[in-house]
Amino acid sequence: MATIIDGKAFSANLRSDIARKVDIIKREHSITPGLAVVLVGEDPASQVYVRSKGKQTQEAGMNSYEHKLDVNTSQSDLLALIDELNNDPDVHGILVQLPLPGHIDEEAVINSIAVGKDVDGFHLSNVGLLSIGAGGIVPCTPLGSLMMLKDHLGDLSGKKAIIVGRSNIVGKPMAALLLKESCTVTIAHSRTRDLPGECRQADILVAAVGRPEMVKGDWIKPGATVIDVGINRIEKEDGSTKLVGDVEFSTAVEVAGAITPVPGGVGPMTIACLLHNTLQQACRLNDIEVPE
Ligand code: GUN
Repeated sequence: MATIIDGKAFSANLRSDIARKVDIIKREHSITPGLAVVLVGEDPASQVYVRSKGKQTQEAGMNSYEHKLDVNTSQSDLLALIDELNNDPDVHGILVQLPLPGHIDEEAVINSIAVGKDVDGFHLSNVGLLSIGAGGIVPCTPLGSLMMLKDHLGDLSGKKAIIVGRSNIVGKPMAALLLKESCTVTIAHSRTRDLPGECRQADILVAAVGRPEMVKGDWIKPGATVIDVGINRIEKEDGSTKLVGDVEFSTAVEVAGAITPVPGGVGPMTIACLLHNTLQQACRLNDIEVPE
């Protein structure tokens, strides 16, 4: 049976460490990191995330600014709000919750956020820095996944890693991070031939496709470490719903060496990493070191 990697406990430790550092910069520099979250429309999943972000931001001792806009908000009104936040000295991080309504160009919006206030790591400059293995803000979900992998495995050098899914939010940045750790990285996707066979080669498997329970236990190399990024709500036979990952947990747990559960694995790490990125930006914008 696999070791269960407890993202809830890991993220609680990370958040309390961030709160300790926030306290130091408040006392020593009179700076309170501030995170602005912009939500356009009323997507129920996005509303849940935005609420958790606001709560955890405040629990870490930071200021949280929420901007909820009507689903019909024009792109120019959204860009005007971002411009205001870019120029607000109390705001150190700006997150525009994705997905945006269809009439808004996501790329244009993301790249209008000042690079110094990008806490998602989605701005082209941060994407570029990550792709050359330089410093910069790293997307939250891959960063949280990497932290758990390193905590569990230590040095990742030379390990074979497969990432199932090639999204800009998870798959591609995850590949860049694992490459930087000197893994041999495969990115698999919907056109990959013999996906189960490719997966069985890997010491590290990261599933980020958004397909409920797609990765089966017999796709996993015995003893491999499995990071399940998927969060899918499925209907059970009795009509109630439950959350499942992209990995079939019941079969995978019998084969893997370690695995993240859903819920309670990668999910809680994502918001903790958002707070981590906000603290980094608050320090960088004020030209101070992040406390040890
Ligand atoms: N929607 C789902 N995940 C994310 C994320 O990490 N950042 C933003 N901005 N929107 C999201």
